Amino acid sequence: MCRTIKAVLESSEALEDVKARGWVRTRRDAKGFSFLEINDGSCLGSLQVVIDAGVPGSDEVPMMLTGSSVEVRGKLVESPGAGQAWELHAAEVRLIGKASGDYPLQKKRHGPEFLREIAHLRPRTNLFGAIFRTRSRLAHAVHRFFEERGFVWVHTPIVTASDCEGAGEMFRVTTQKVGGGKDVPEEDFFGKASYLTVSGQLEGETFACALSKIYTFGPTFRAENSNTTRHAAEFWMIEPEMAFCDLKGDMDLAEEFVKALTRSVLEGPQDDFGLFSNFVDKGLEERLRFIAERPFERVSYTEAVAILEKSGKSFEYPVAWGENLQSEHERYLTEEHCKSPVTVYDYPEAIKPFYMRRNDDGKTVAAMDVLVPGIGEIVGGSQREERYDLLRATMEKDGLDVEAYGWYLDLRKYGSVPHAGFGLGFERMLMLATGVQNIRDVIPYPRTPGHCLP
Ligand code: 4AD
Ligand code: MG
Repeated sequence: MCRTIKAVLESSEALEDVKARGWVRTRRDAKGFSFLEINDGSCLGSLQVVIDAGVPGSDEVPMMLTGSSVEVRGKLVESPGAGQAWELHAAEVRLIGKASGDYPLQKKRHGPEFLREIAHLRPRTNLFGAIFRTRSRLAHAVHRFFEERGFVWVHTPIVTASDCEGAGEMFRVTTQKVGGGKDVPEEDFFGKASYLTVSGQLEGETFACALSKIYTFGPTFRAENSNTTRHAAEFWMIEPEMAFCDLKGDMDLAEEFVKALTRSVLEGPQDDFGLFSNFVDKGLEERLRFIAERPFERVSYTEAVAILEKSGKSFEYPVAWGENLQSEHERYLTEEHCKSPVTVYDYPEAIKPFYMRRNDDGKTVAAMDVLVPGIGEIVGGSQREERYDLLRATMEKDGLDVEAYGWYLDLRKYGSVPHAGFGLGFERMLMLATGVQNIRDVIPYPRTPGHCLP
C-alpha cells in the first residue's frame, strides 16, 4: 500500500512492506548503498531511504538527482540515526521522473527573493511547504469558525459592476480590443463597464438582509499602485455580514475571529509551527499566545490621534484629526503604545466610504479597524448606513450613480435593519500566523505592480 510520508513517519510500529513516493531532497552514496531523503509535501519531514546496491531498480539510483520523483518500497525500521524515528530499507526503487542537473533547489538554502523568481518550485522547500499547508489549514479554520456560529457561506461574484470601496482602484474586465481606441461600455460583453471585485461586501449585505448571518471568502482585486510588503493586487478576503448587529457586535466578532484563527495555528501541527517559531520569527509563539488570550484594546479614532500627537515621535506623515492613519501610525499604536492588538473605531466620515453609518456627532462614522503588531491593519469593517434618506444623500454627494445602486438602496426600503460586517485580509492573517514579513511569500502566485507570473 502506498502511504503519504506523513503517515509513514507517524507510524506507531515497524512495518514489513511500505510504499512511498516523493521528490528527492538529497542523495548520499556510500560503498555498497545509498541514502535518499524524499519528501512529498504531506508534512515537513522527509523520509530517509536506505538502498543497498543490487536491490531491484538500484541501477537507476545514480540518476536520482535532487528534485527527481521516485517510488520506494520496503521495510520500515527504527532509525539508528539522529533526527528521525524511522527509515525505510528499500526492497525496490523506481525512478518516476528524472530532474535535470540544473534543478535550482540544490542543498544550499535560498532566500525568499530568489525563491519568488521560481514560484513554481518554491512549494518544494521546507519553508514554503509549511506556509502553504498552514494556509490550507487556516482556510478550514475560517469555515469552521463560521459554521459553528450558524453563518451561511455566500459566493459573491468576482466580476461586478459596482465599486464597493469607492476608491476607483479597480481592474476593468473587457472583451473589447485594447489599443483600438475603442472604449464603449455599452457595446462591451455585459453591456456596461464591469470590474474585478474589490470586496464582496455590497452583495454580501443583500444576503445578510435575508439569511441574517453570512460570510464570503474569496479572491479580491485592487489596482492600487502600492509596492509594500502588505499589499497585493490579488488577495483573499473573508467578509462576514450580520443583520441586527451594531458596531459593538461587529468589533466583538472581529476580535473573536482573530483570536480563534490564532488559536488554530497554535494548536496545529507543531513541525510546521516550529519551523516558523525557530527560523522565521523567534517571538512568534509568545506573540500569538498573547493575541489568543488577552482582550484587545479599543480606542476611538479621536483618542488614537491624541495618543499619536502626545507620542513625541516624528512620523513621516503628519498626524491630524481628519487625516487617514498611516501604517507607521497604526504600528505605533499597536506595537509601542498598546503593546497589544487594538481596535480603532469611529473614524471621520470624510475619509471613509459611503456605506458606513453616520454617528450622531455629525463628524464620524461607525467604522472600525483592527491593528495587530508587526502588520498594522488586519481587519476593516463598519456598521452600515441602514437609513434610506441618509444613505441616498451620501451617495449623491459622493457622485455615485444612484440608479445603478438601486438594488443596494432597496435593502433600506424593504425591511431595513441595522447591520454590520468586516473584511479580514487572509494573507495578512497568514503573515501574523507565520511571522513571514512579505505578503508575496504567503500567497501561491503573488500579483503586484509589474509582477504576474505565471
Ligand atoms: O479595509 P478594507 O478595504 O475593507 C473592505 O474592503 C470592506 N468592504 C470590508 C467589509 O467591511 N466587508 O479591506 C479589508 C481588509 C484589510 O483590513 C486588509 O487586511 C485586507 O483586507 N486588504 C489587503 N490585503 C492585501 N493586499 C491588499 N491590497 C489589501 N487591501 C486590503
Ligand atoms: Mg481598510
